[in-house]
Amino acid sequence: MGRLVVVSNRVPSSSDRQQPAGGLAVALQDALSHGEALWFGWSGQQIAEAEASNRKPSEETVDNVTYATIDLTHAEFDGFYQKYSNGILWPLCHYRAGLMDYSRKDREVYLTVNHLFAQQLRPLLRPDDIIWVHDYHLFPLGQALRDVGITNPIGFFLHIPFPPWSLMKALPGAERLMHSLESYDVIGLQTEDDARNMNDGLEQCGVQTRGQVFPIGIDPASFAAQAKACEDDFDVQRLQQSLRGRPLVIGVDRLDYSKGIPERFHGYEAFLKRFPEHKGKVMYLQIAPVSRGTVEEYRRLKQDLDETAGRINGMYGDFDWTPIRYITHPVPRHLLAGFYRLADVALVTPLRDGMNLVAKEYVAAQDEEDPGVLILSHFAGAAPEMEDALLVNPHDADEIADALHKALTMTQSERQERWERLKPDVWRVTAGSWARDFIEQLVRVERG
Ligand code: G6P
Repeated sequence: MGRLVVVSNRVPSSSDRQQPAGGLAVALQDALSHGEALWFGWSGQQIAEAEASNRKPSEETVDNVTYATIDLTHAEFDGFYQKYSNGILWPLCHYRAGLMDYSRKDREVYLTVNHLFAQQLRPLLRPDDIIWVHDYHLFPLGQALRDVGITNPIGFFLHIPFPPWSLMKALPGAERLMHSLESYDVIGLQTEDDARNMNDGLEQCGVQTRGQVFPIGIDPASFAAQAKACEDDFDVQRLQQSLRGRPLVIGVDRLDYSKGIPERFHGYEAFLKRFPEHKGKVMYLQIAPVSRGTVEEYRRLKQDLDETAGRINGMYGDFDWTPIRYITHPVPRHLLAGFYRLADVALVTPLRDGMNLVAKEYVAAQDEEDPGVLILSHFAGAAPEMEDALLVNPHDADEIADALHKALTMTQSERQERWERLKPDVWRVTAGSWARDFIEQLVRVERG
């Protein structure tokens, strides 16, 4: 096989290149370790228009991986990243057409930046490279690479959901977007629903190519080991001591409206109201690091959450008890592993999610003698693989309340049985197997 070239908007920052801190870098760790590789994308930096004319990728090689990144101008950052990717495609793909704030100008910037990526990547490519493009920021990159003469195999993986065509076609230019997908040799999606939706759209637009399902996973063995090793960590101990024997309910999400955090808070409130016997006897820790904080909808969400958490704490709290511990800064990954192991219940209740790896990480982190309970939304991509979780509709506060009560009063043997049934899939469909399966398909194209 030739060199693997990964293209994504986000590229691990210099400080995360030795030891990946999460996201795609963790998922690709195994795939990138096999030979020489190139990872191309945005540097995370913005520059003035005047500095853009002679820009070139800046390169750094760590072990066998070369990271090549380019800066974006303020206008590119705004139109491509903030507006079109995160103000139009993100809400639409998460079935929230009402939040989509479309403008033709932003679409043009999006297409221009995809062409810029293709032009900047072209001189770095070798004839036997296989190219793997990631996520919604780069839907048309395959086409843009073909336009500049690249004939290598190119694959595309969509990490987020793909909505039904009846919804997707609300996007002006949706048909063109579907046609641009024809440039890819392999298209991967997270779930059967996503593949069905995309393939229906392709068919409606008369495009021949089809998407296939490659559900993403985690590295369960290393995550489980990390969770165990963390038991005696100072900060994990600090959290444990603060519980004073009370059960811990945990939620960990980027602060994003797709994650259903306000709905979850309302569910927890309904739980306190309907099952007052738990008042003062449970701790709910919500970790929600601020994300895309300069996009208007995310700013509004943060304000809403700040207010809701404050209101619930004011109303239900006591001298010696805070109902919700709510923090909006990130917590290091190894600590999260320890926190998951400590938690008796995980609340993973997105309104819509590509996969949701927190659900899988929570299962991997459990102590087999005394595992916790996963409460999971039907609308997480992980739900079809995790039917032994307590599955809930995140829009129904009372259903979340019932699930919390059930989880906190569940017998140890039921917890063990459910966990034993959840485990095999988390161990079978891993980050390693996901990347291997996808790359194998691409290599087949190369040979074929
Ligand atoms: C999701 C997307 C990724 C994105 C990440 C963080 O997981 O699928 O493509 O990188 O969110 O969002 P950000 O806007 O900070 O890159």
